[in-house]
Amino acid sequence: MNMNPHEDVAEVLVTAEEIARRTEELARTLERDYAGRPLKMVCILKGAVPFAADLMRAMNHPVALDFMAVSSYGASTKSSGVVRLLNDLDESIEGQDVLIVEDIVDTGLTLKYLRENLSARGPRSLRVAVLLDKRERRLVDVEVEYVGFRIPDRFVVGYGLDYAGFYRNLPYVGVLKPSVYEEAP
Ligand code: IMP
Repeated sequence: MNMNPHEDVAEVLVTAEEIARRTEELARTLERDYAGRPLKMVCILKGAVPFAADLMRAMNHPVALDFMAVSSYGASTKSSGVVRLLNDLDESIEGQDVLIVEDIVDTGLTLKYLRENLSARGPRSLRVAVLLDKRERRLVDVEVEYVGFRIPDRFVVGYGLDYAGFYRNLPYVGVLKPSVYEEAP
């Protein structure tokens, strides 16, 4: 791992400018779709933190925020297929208009679990917003109402997405150099 994370990036797939522009578009759509209704955003830790923070600030709308954490892949770039709840919401979502905000939908297993888990709590409505969609990797059918970008089947980092816990602070979405994985223990 380089001390300058930018130097570990082989290719930028989505620039910071593209993310900012798309986030504004999504914010306008959400304002329209939730007109007259306050929105409860459920930000999925840790990867969705930058996206949720930017999306909520782009909205001229009453937005409340809560967090949930589910198990990720650890240091591996492959999904284990098992989803575990690590940290639950602070508050009830019963009767509320809930938007799950997630960094990426890959196999769909995480969002399927989250949709089922949260819909059992009686929200008024439940939808999903993801920054990135790797559609060709989907193993289970799961509805995603708002998508930032469709991307090809590459392991990406940045703007919340990590490899072995790092690179979340890159302001763009990119692909790492193969040498980063080769160094891994
Ligand atoms: P799914 O359950 O396979 O849809 O995967 C969702 C989770 O896997 C995301 O919340 C990410 O934490 C992680 N993930 C999937 N693809 C990537 C990637 O390309 N880079 C980093 N994390 C990823």
